[in-house]
Amino acid sequence: MNTGNGTRLYVNEVATRDGFQMESRFIPTDDKIALVDRLSGLGYAKIEVTSFTAPKAIPALRDGEEVMGRIARRPGVVYTALVPNLRGGERALDSRVDEFNIVMSASETHNLANLRMTREQSFAQLTEVIALARQAKVPVNVSLSCVFGCPMEGEVPLDGVLGWVDRFAALGVAGITLCDTTGMAYPTQVQEVCASALARFEALDFTAHFHNTRAMGLVNTVAAVEAGVRRFDMSLGGIGGCPYAPGATGNVATEDVIHMLQCMGYDTGMDLDGLIGAAAQLEALVQHELPAQVSRAGHRLTRHAPPADFSEIVERAKARGEGRKEPQA
Ligand code: COA
Ligand code: ZN
Repeated sequence: MNTGNGTRLYVNEVATRDGFQMESRFIPTDDKIALVDRLSGLGYAKIEVTSFTAPKAIPALRDGEEVMGRIARRPGVVYTALVPNLRGGERALDSRVDEFNIVMSASETHNLANLRMTREQSFAQLTEVIALARQAKVPVNVSLSCVFGCPMEGEVPLDGVLGWVDRFAALGVAGITLCDTTGMAYPTQVQEVCASALARFEALDFTAHFHNTRAMGLVNTVAAVEAGVRRFDMSLGGIGGCPYAPGATGNVATEDVIHMLQCMGYDTGMDLDGLIGAAAQLEALVQHELPAQVSRAGHRLTRHAPPADFSEIVERAKARGEGRKEPQA
């Protein structure tokens, strides 16, 4: 395993999209805006603010226009939104997003369940969305779901994944996010998939997106960073998941990943204490305990006071030590 040696990594927050889409409580619009504004000051390269999906499909994000319209945009932060079809692209454009994050699945079954289209139908729609974005000079990233496995189909062949990347690359997209939608990825697979993608498509910016469904999110992050990935999606508090993927649970938690990467010597540009503070605000909004761990435990060097009877323990230990015979020389 390598040390980070100050290598710069770029962090994308997805709690307000991947996270909120999965919450049963509707997060009030003002609270969403206040959270994005707080997150904007914590060092993110990108924030996925919302999605422009059908309100019937994702009611939690039906206020996308208002949220995008009222957040305070901090220079240097890219404010992106998920776009599934042409209608979504038009809404995103009207909302002046900095980037379109278009979405389709590498798995036919998941694409049908999630987007109600075959992959070819999705690709045809997204081709039009890319044309719209190009006209407006808005960059496009593609979030490719189920790259590391599909909860309905099982294994998703790497050749097929690379084939879709190839087709999007030919349309001039700037980046691809390799999404482990339901936490099926494991480290050696992540190493293989990421290394193959980076080697074959040098001009594309790759992002890794892990869910912690099977507790492999952190180790998969290490595998991806060692394979050369420099951009990561993560979700404050570890909330998130696809409502159309059976068994989906939260993304890898921002504060847990940042804590680990900072310990390893990577430069994430992130304010960890600020994240822990924002996670407390998020917990109040979602009204349930967050899966993330570092917010509860604190940084590894967080120092705690010894037990209340510590001086008594010390005295007793000393008395025992004095009673013991020193070994003969
Ligand atoms: N924004 C707002 N409304 C939209 C929309 C969009 N992007 N796309 C479609 N709609 C509306 C239509 O106008 C129509 O409205 P009506 O019932 O009032 O006439 C309704 O939604 C159905 O439209 P249709 O084109 O038939 O869509 P669909 O039902 O086949 O659903 C998607 C296709 C892609 C729009 C929908 O499945 C979706 O938004 N999925 C997103 C899933 C998601 O975000 N998953 C988690 C992230 S990976
Ligand atoms: Zn996700």
